[in-house]
Amino acid sequence: MRYRVAGAIASLSIIAAGCTSAQGLAPAAEAPIAEAPAAPAATETVSAPDEVIAETSVTSPSGEILFKLMTQNGALQWQADWQGKPAIAPSALGLKFKTGRDLDSDLVILSVTHAHQDQVWEQPWGERQFVRDHHNELLAEIGVTDGTPAFALRVRAFDDGVGFRYEVPDTGKREITDELTVFQAHEHAKTWWIPAAGWNRYEELYSETSLRQVDRAHTPITIELPDGGPFLSIHEAALVDYAGMWLDQRRPGQLEAHLAPWSDGTKVKVDGAFKTPWRTGQISADAAGLANSDLILNLNEPNALGDVSWAEPSKYIGIWWCMHINECTWGSGDKHGATNERTKAYIDFASEHGFDGVLVEGWNFGWDGDWFSNGEIFSFTEAYADFDIEALSAYAAERDVYLIGHHETSGDITNYEAQMADAYALYERLGIPAIKTGYVADGGEIARRDEAGKSYREWHDGQFAVDHHLRVLKLAAKHKISINAHEPVKDTGLRRTYPNAFSREGARGQEYNAWGVPPNDPAHTTILPFTRMLSGPMDFTPGIFDLNFGKPVEEDPRVQTTLAKQLALYVLIHSPIQMAADLHRNYAARPDAFEFIKQVPVDWSQSIMLDGYPGDFAVMARKDRDSEAWYLGAVTDEAGREMALSLDFLDAGTYQAAIYRDGEGGDWLSNPYAFERASMTVTSSDTITLNLAPGGGTAIAFVPVVE
Ligand code: NOJ
Ligand code: CA
Repeated sequence: MRYRVAGAIASLSIIAAGCTSAQGLAPAAEAPIAEAPAAPAATETVSAPDEVIAETSVTSPSGEILFKLMTQNGALQWQADWQGKPAIAPSALGLKFKTGRDLDSDLVILSVTHAHQDQVWEQPWGERQFVRDHHNELLAEIGVTDGTPAFALRVRAFDDGVGFRYEVPDTGKREITDELTVFQAHEHAKTWWIPAAGWNRYEELYSETSLRQVDRAHTPITIELPDGGPFLSIHEAALVDYAGMWLDQRRPGQLEAHLAPWSDGTKVKVDGAFKTPWRTGQISADAAGLANSDLILNLNEPNALGDVSWAEPSKYIGIWWCMHINECTWGSGDKHGATNERTKAYIDFASEHGFDGVLVEGWNFGWDGDWFSNGEIFSFTEAYADFDIEALSAYAAERDVYLIGHHETSGDITNYEAQMADAYALYERLGIPAIKTGYVADGGEIARRDEAGKSYREWHDGQFAVDHHLRVLKLAAKHKISINAHEPVKDTGLRRTYPNAFSREGARGQEYNAWGVPPNDPAHTTILPFTRMLSGPMDFTPGIFDLNFGKPVEEDPRVQTTLAKQLALYVLIHSPIQMAADLHRNYAARPDAFEFIKQVPVDWSQSIMLDGYPGDFAVMARKDRDSEAWYLGAVTDEAGREMALSLDFLDAGTYQAAIYRDGEGGDWLSNPYAFERASMTVTSSDTITLNLAPGGGTAIAFVPVVE
């Protein structure tokens, strides 16, 4: 198997000053060890006051990727080549405003400045500890034909793709009505995508079609170009004070930015100078390369929160699945889930099995009746009478466990914002370090009321919601609280700047297996790593052991995986907080499989997607941040698969491999519980065989043998 990692740091020569690490690096660490200043950029400016710069370009450090910027009859265009062939053919750029001059015509390139950076920075938590930011930069000053400066386009070319953003100087209060950025790809390219602007936000099964079939899509969108690739992922980085970008297909293969609008139809309200999010194209010879890219994080700003040692990755359980399978309720009454008795039992279970947190949903006033539609009545400080939040927090603390807060807003952001300060202060006082938030409302139905009380309906990824999510992160940070948002805005790498942005949903998670029509099919988790996961961590909530919860095994809805595949998801789907989602009785019934959930880490020093293809399979290896152990998660779609796995990713020395795999005759549909454990001694020069059942998977813990 081949593998490539963007942050493959072992062979770097690093410029930044600073301490040395165990691996001989000199990382420019993010706060609390302040990020070292970038190595002085090598800059060179070319101005052409008297002549026209018709075309300029920048290549990635390896030279494999070329970004070209050109003017064509007064319009600005870009293009990206990979290994000498176009990945993105000439594509439009520009912005239109409600008033004043549009930035789309009579444009000239006034000057260009080149810069270079090679720096390693450290993540407080994440899929890898050290991230290399190695790029060449082009800053093009764009003016109108009379020579008046208009805006700048900042471009960065990395070996794993390109990013660019518009930097627009202060022209007062204005409204953007359209962003004209285009990504022109091959119309017959194979594409994995979910629709945007629908009722279901991001929670859709992915379609695999030719690019021509794409209508209005969310990003990240994944494209395999014909005739030998490359793979391409179009997305955005650092979505701050702007609207999320959807992609509309105009002419064949032409994906044009369509910003999620405000309820008044405008796209973005700006006040003074502004920068758009980075428009990104990750480019790789294979699908695994996309999953190993750090481009999105590299285009975000360094940690702005300082000491974030309080934002600790963790594993949690919760009063949650029982609601989704109808064994208990969020609302009060006989079946109320969030009772003192049940919560204590969960705390005891967490303490006994080494979990850090216990999530309790349905603890607060507002769930009775039609909670989907009644967001304005939720209280975020008042508990139901049968949930003594003070006593339960103390009970948890005595057992070295904490409660995880829950704030379902039903999309009523105005109601939530009015209570956030009190709610976060309460949680901080009670030692609650993380909150799962929720915005259950149809797309376009986020409730906003202005100061006069007038109501508006907004998108989950419009500027209003984007700004709200950042206000949440900033306020929560003041209370040392981390956030896991459901029905969120998509991730654009802001966890680098705000490391309390732990995780989010923003895709179909496990809950769809409880009630989804249809539930997630066996291919779903082979597509996520090459699509949704390119944006950042996901709270998928793996670990369901009773796959059909009492019904006949073939009857939907049910979990369409084998038991072993549930374990593999802990390694495959990155989240700094991972849930063990099932009921305790189901873990008690399968101690052999539960052992892996108890053991698997949630924070990593390195991650390598070894191989995979969206819709078919994925094989991920990760190294524990706190030990020398490696873990592996491999999953397949509905087809069984035998694979030879080279263990050359392991470090030197001997490991004891504990293997959790599908048993003989295993099959997600008819025999999902066929499961076995095996153990063997291995080194990095070994190759082992993985046998994945149809809809199955394998999870392995490689623990060094102390000699
Ligand atoms: C939808 C979330 O995804 C789910 O996890 C949660 O239980 C419900 N909303 C209620 O907040
Ligand atoms: Ca959801």
